[in-house]
Amino acid sequence: FYPPGAGGGGGGVAAKDALGNDVTKAGWLATHQPGDHSLTQGLKGDATYLIVKEDKSIEEYGLNAVCTHLGCVVPWVASANKFMCPCHGSQYDFTGKVVRGPAPLSLALAHVSFSDTDVITYTPWTETDFRTDLKPWWI
Ligand code: FES
Repeated sequence: FYPPGAGGGGGGVAAKDALGNDVTKAGWLATHQPGDHSLTQGLKGDATYLIVKEDKSIEEYGLNAVCTHLGCVVPWVASANKFMCPCHGSQYDFTGKVVRGPAPLSLALAHVSFSDTDVITYTPWTETDFRTDLKPWWI
């Protein structure tokens, strides 16, 4: 048995934009500037930040936008170079590492890859969390 969406892509899902369309690398980079952190729909339908690096490439990880405190979607605040949760004030640095509570954990990671047709694909991040050197809490 394979749950819907789990076939073919090694457990990956295509990133979707706000209209529900697949996100392509070329399309995203044509409309998003270096430093951009914008939301896509990712694994399990969760809001996931896709990040454009300063060299105009796409960051190799996406960040789940769901606050690890009580689940608000955490906005990116470019002027502070942080994610800042409006609900109870938790903060995460630009890698999604928690730097201020009450959130207990960093934002969940997902791998970013590209399909043969240039579609951006998220797959589960099961390796060590590079921000904490711990096992991923979200697996
Ligand atoms: Fe984000 Fe409480 S839900 S700080």
